[in-house]
Amino acid sequence: MSQTTWTAVDNYFTELLIAQDPVLDEVLAANAAAGLPAHDVSPTQGKLLQLFVQMTGAKKILEIGTLGGYSTIWMARALPEDGQIITLEANAAHAAVAGRNIAHAQLSQKVDMRTGAAAETLPLLEGMVFDLVFIDADKPSNPLYLEWALKLTRPGSIIIGDNVVRDGAVADAAGNDPNVKGVRSFLSLIGGNPKLNATAIQTVGSKGYDGFAIAVVLP
Ligand code: SAH
Ligand code: DHB
Ligand code: MG
Repeated sequence: MSQTTWTAVDNYFTELLIAQDPVLDEVLAANAAAGLPAHDVSPTQGKLLQLFVQMTGAKKILEIGTLGGYSTIWMARALPEDGQIITLEANAAHAAVAGRNIAHAQLSQKVDMRTGAAAETLPLLEGMVFDLVFIDADKPSNPLYLEWALKLTRPGSIIIGDNVVRDGAVADAAGNDPNVKGVRSFLSLIGGNPKLNATAIQTVGSKGYDGFAIAVVLP
């Protein structure tokens, strides 16, 4: 099995299951034109995030790592009228592109983007309660972001981490990649926390071989 096959199947699923969406296509084009790294989730993964929002009835979402706002838009579109997503982005150039994309998607009302390192902007959210947290920024900080996610959620909230597989590198205990180390500490903290019930799922598709960690906060 190869990247070519994974992409072909993702394209087939996308054609069948994901409505044609010029706005999302334009968002990806704007990101590429601005030179952003192509680290957005894939269409089928964006749809999965949207399904999580719908399945949980989430009204307040926290996203760490906006990039161009592609995943933000997928999730924001499933929010009810009075729903809100706060999304944190350290890179001002990424945030500028995201702001334009979110406005283009007519979602500025529902999206509150905070520019700055998440380690600085997360403490400003103290006291807020989110139904869903999507962690998708600098992987070495994943343990810190998990700590904040636990502070900012309630029983029943869900916490999702992106990129927990990294081509399989996550299984290498001896690896020195700080991204992998961050993800391994993150998974170990999740697994060791009796307040979390979690799994991790490997994915292949147009964005290669990676995966999500998914946890629910227990009473
Ligand atoms: N969620 C996006 C992809 C995010 S890529 C999507 O799927 O569409 C990761 C993003 O995290 C990048 O834009 C990067 O600038 C941002 N980031 C990196 N370090 C950060 C930090 N310390 N605080 C906040 N954002 C950070
Ligand atoms: C990387 C980061 C991401 O959030 C992602 O989805 C893909 C790749 C990276 O840092 O390489
Ligand atoms: Mg990611």
